Amino acid sequence: MKQHFSSTQPLVILVAGIGGAIGSTLCLAVEALRSSPELVRPYLTTNGLFPDFPLADTFVVGWDLPDAGDPAAALRRHGVVPEAIHEAFLPQIAAIPVFEAPSADLDLNQALKRVSGDIQTIRSRHPNAAVVLVNLLPAAPPPPSIPDRNALAAWYAAHPALFPDLVYVLAAIESGIPVVNFTPNGVEMDWIVDRAVQQGVPMCGRDGKTGQTFYKQVLASAWKARKLRITGWYSLNILGNADGANLMNPACASGKLANKTEILEEILGYPVLPDCHKVHIDYYPPRGDAKEAWDVIDFEGLFGLPMSMRIDFQGRDSILAAPMVMDLARWMAVLHRSGERKGLVSEMAFFFKKPLGADPPVSFSDQLLRLAELSRKA
Ligand SMILES: NC(=O)c1ccc[n+]([C@@H]2O[C@H](COP(=O)([O-])OP(=O)(O)OC[C@H]3O[C@@H](n4cnc5c(N)ncnc54)[C@H](O)[C@@H]3O)[C@@H](O)[C@H]2O)c1
Repeated sequence: MKQHFSSTQPLVILVAGIGGAIGSTLCLAVEALRSSPELVRPYLTTNGLFPDFPLADTFVVGWDLPDAGDPAAALRRHGVVPEAIHEAFLPQIAAIPVFEAPSADLDLNQALKRVSGDIQTIRSRHPNAAVVLVNLLPAAPPPPSIPDRNALAAWYAAHPALFPDLVYVLAAIESGIPVVNFTPNGVEMDWIVDRAVQQGVPMCGRDGKTGQTFYKQVLASAWKARKLRITGWYSLNILGNADGANLMNPACASGKLANKTEILEEILGYPVLPDCHKVHIDYYPPRGDAKEAWDVIDFEGLFGLPMSMRIDFQGRDSILAAPMVMDLARWMAVLHRSGERKGLVSEMAFFFKKPLGADPPVSFSDQLLRLAELSRKA
């Protein structure tokens, strides 16, 4: 049942992995919104939407490993944003609270208690705020099938550092807090989604659609609409940030590569021949966060005659990702507050490589349409 409110509310974004490239860029964007909104507002898809959550009333808080340093140190370390842009905001960013990640010697219940305690502390500092968790932890190897909380406790006892995501996600859901899963990590197990539904909290994921997969989706949708048949698509990504380094571990990359690969046939609705759709990710330090993606697209038209296209995309991973994280957190806050959605929100497909939920829209135009429809209800 949709509820109506008249008062505005601050929004607190809780970030698991706040000292990462995206997390620290998000901290800068949030602080810049207060005094220089023109640097951030135009790049948000929710700019002008959701007046109940004024952008200048957005706060970020989070967790990271003990050696991550404060978000200002992290921002400098990642080198995503030039000093000339970020230096004026460093004192405020350095003051953003960061909690230490639960250590690997805690069992599941102890780790949950730690994170839930941190959430209570944040809530007592922002008693009137809406709160949303965003998962920005590193890509992890796919977890085994874990059917319930008891099985998770047993598995976690043996592998506490392997998949920390679930501690943050479960603590948030049990605290009645919506969840955004920007990572490729499979946190949306059935029993976790069921628990979110019971708690009345919306969730969305998985794997932010920021660069290459974003334009692949737009182009594949357009080529399909024009009845131009895709016969091959070769995609290469080079990036030199910590995410790129981590993705050199094949187990950590497997989820992301699957998400980047499966999307093409889902959009086209027909199979591309074996070995004719390839996606590679390569760690190449000189690029830093300024990732580059190359695509060779082969397709045919009238009489089956072949044509081809090349793309050289020079993006910036965290510059693309941070505003999407803010948009997603705002969506979750609005849907939670109105009671419009609980459990997985498939309308968030626009933002994700692997959209989850009931019947998520597949083509780019359908994704825009469903988002616009939801914004009229929210
Ligand atoms: N940048 C993009 O365009 C993009 C797109 C889609 C998905 N993603 C995903 O977003 C996630 C974040 O990306 P990033 O570039 O910020 O990565 P990153 O490696 O820079 O940041 C991850 C952060 O998590 C911290 N961390 C590790 N274990 C932790 C724990 N147990 N508790 C708390 N913090 C912990 C790390 O110290 C680090 O600061 C990755 O999973 C990435 O694959 C990124």
